Amino acid sequence: MSERLVIISNRLPLNFSRQDGKIKFTKSVGGLATGLSSYLASLRANVPQAKYLWVGWPGLPGDNLEVKGLEVSLHAKKMHPVMISAEEIKHFYNGFCNDTVWPLFHSFPYLVSYNNEEWAAYRAVNERFCEEALKVLQPDDIVWIHDYHLMLLPKMLRERLPDLAIGFFLHIPFPVFEIFRLLPNKWRRQILQGMLGSDLIGFHTYDYSRHFIECVGRILGYEHSLGIITTENRATKVDTFPMGIDFSKFYEGANRRAVQREQAKLKKIEGVEKIILSVDRLDYTKGIINRLQGYQTFLTEYPEWREKVQFILVVVPSRMEVKLYNDMKSEIDGLVGEINGFFGTVNWTPVNYRFKALSFAELSALYSMSNIALVTPLRDGMNLIAKEYVASRQDQSGVLILSEMAGAAQELGEAIIINPHHRDEMVEAIVAGLNMPLPEQQERMNFMQRRLQGYTVTRWVEDFIHELTDFKATQRESKLLNAKMRRQISLDFHQAKLKFLFLDYDGTLVPIKKTPQYAEPDTALLSLLDTLSKQPRTRLVIISGRDKNTMERWFRGLDLDLVAEHGIWIREGSASWEIIKPLQNDWKKEVLPILKKYTERLPGSFIEEKEFSIAWHYRLANFGLASMRAKELINNLNHLLAKHDVQVIQGKRVVEVRSFGANKGTVATYYLEKYVPDFILAIGDDTTDEDLFKAIGDRAYTIKVGYSKSHAQYIVESHNDVRFLLESLLENVQE
Ligand code: UDP
Ligand code: G6P
Repeated sequence: MSERLVIISNRLPLNFSRQDGKIKFTKSVGGLATGLSSYLASLRANVPQAKYLWVGWPGLPGDNLEVKGLEVSLHAKKMHPVMISAEEIKHFYNGFCNDTVWPLFHSFPYLVSYNNEEWAAYRAVNERFCEEALKVLQPDDIVWIHDYHLMLLPKMLRERLPDLAIGFFLHIPFPVFEIFRLLPNKWRRQILQGMLGSDLIGFHTYDYSRHFIECVGRILGYEHSLGIITTENRATKVDTFPMGIDFSKFYEGANRRAVQREQAKLKKIEGVEKIILSVDRLDYTKGIINRLQGYQTFLTEYPEWREKVQFILVVVPSRMEVKLYNDMKSEIDGLVGEINGFFGTVNWTPVNYRFKALSFAELSALYSMSNIALVTPLRDGMNLIAKEYVASRQDQSGVLILSEMAGAAQELGEAIIINPHHRDEMVEAIVAGLNMPLPEQQERMNFMQRRLQGYTVTRWVEDFIHELTDFKATQRESKLLNAKMRRQISLDFHQAKLKFLFLDYDGTLVPIKKTPQYAEPDTALLSLLDTLSKQPRTRLVIISGRDKNTMERWFRGLDLDLVAEHGIWIREGSASWEIIKPLQNDWKKEVLPILKKYTERLPGSFIEEKEFSIAWHYRLANFGLASMRAKELINNLNHLLAKHDVQVIQGKRVVEVRSFGANKGTVATYYLEKYVPDFILAIGDDTTDEDLFKAIGDRAYTIKVGYSKSHAQYIVESHNDVRFLLESLLENVQE
């Protein structure tokens, strides 16, 4: 990769603090920081010239002046700080991030706080990240934004640097629609739109990707095709990338001196037959209380294992300023005391509890010496602890008990998979794990290790970046109309002797409105069309799916040709409406009752009846149900209408049945048989415009609004670009 990789995350991989007036730092905890740090460490070792920068919060409150010294030290480590004040830490980090998004996205809706001040802080800090990033970004950087703290940032950056390659990865689950919708409408829309500012959005599992795509459809109304979501003005790809670990670092960990020293220390305290290990950040999503209760029940129901097992419970301090976390710490302390007090003996402490962050050597020693890893989160985006334990088992012994609620369960199917909410399942799994024969342990480990060895954290990064750059390149190469082409079109327009402009209306000259009758032309548009139509030797044809009365009303007084019902009716200048080709409409009596039935079954849908066509609109209806009903309807109609001369077409959230024989293409042919223009410009945004593009082919400039597949030569992103292009036709262009 020759471009520079710029990682942006809330937290930098080092966490700085001030002690005795001096700045000290420790490694940041959590999967995001450890995963990406491992990747960068191996990148530094293998490609010393690789360029990268990490932008994020150094972990201490402050403003720029206070941290002058800090900035210099960060610069040497290829990090750029974003400072957050104490007040913002309270409202942004402890507040919106960890008291709203974290519980909601982990499906704990009853713990979610909804606070406008915290939302405002979330927006403000995302904007701060944007400003800081702009100070260091170069146009050809590859920007990779991480996690739930910065979901608004992709869009903010996109608005400032439209061509930048931007990826986004969410390290936590994306919840189902029913949970996500609990956010106020404004917040949830802005969050989705914020993420859609990226070119590529990655999730750990297919389910999270699916949930996101569904929320985008149901809340913003954007459809997708094979994971590519098309908005009014851009395309964003959504895909699944399960994060891996640095396999060999853990596999070979046991060979390191420091790890062996830790193993020796552990042997001294051990004195039991089997060790059960659990390691987590302090977090209610990790199910630590449920786990302790499971262990407590196990000791009650299986007294023969007392004094033979030890449960090493490592809890890494995290987010202690958030009340829920603090309360949970007290609850864990209490339960550990209760278990040790009740079951403990002079020689045996059932729970060996450590509330601290571990060094790699301590962690690796624990992994390599534990017979069972009990990884039972109630909900977890991925869970790297499970993967690190598997990788650390050099002799392939050991049993992983894993919650089905962790993203990692999708990849580690050979573990004993349990539902962490049920104590019986946990107890049974512990007993099964303690009794599992060695060959079975090895067989299961072998499968899991091979999988983790194949998809390491380096592969994960490479995969993501490769897909991002690939997708970006396709977009950049796409037929997007550039300034040079726009100029060329203007030039040709001015030089031509007879000019024809075929313009679609909805979605092309005005944005698509939820209710079609509210899409009447604004005065700026009417004046633009008026001026254009008065250009010498220019014929302006508005060619739409609307009925003729609406069109006549909207464009009254303008010297235009109007084509209604997708090419059935034509009105040339001030002449009267004509039918281009004789048509039947006897099929309508069969179709109307069916459409009425569908309208009753789909609240929010409605029928628009025109003379030779009927449209069934479902823009206002429930997104998922509507898509299903539309498919069903098309199927039924195709079957039923086989004997009639009609066509069933699907447009943007509309199914239209119309008499066959006339479409936008036949209109173009009709004109081109009568006239010989030396300049033709055709613009449209929907399926019906494809007939037009196909019919005029190379003889014209054909332009599609939006990114979906098209026969048109060029793409523009929105109706604003269309208006801009039309305005530029009026300018006096010199060759
Ligand atoms: N970890 C750490 N310090 C510790 C214990 C663990 O940094 O004292 C690391 C561990 O190696 C793992 C990460 O923290 O890579 C935990 O990631 P996981 O995905 O399991 O959970 P998260 O904390 O991200 O929710
Ligand atoms: C999880 C999140 C990370 C976060 C980490 C530690 O892994 O996905 O974004 O950095 O927890 O949490 P903290 O609040 O200390 O950054």
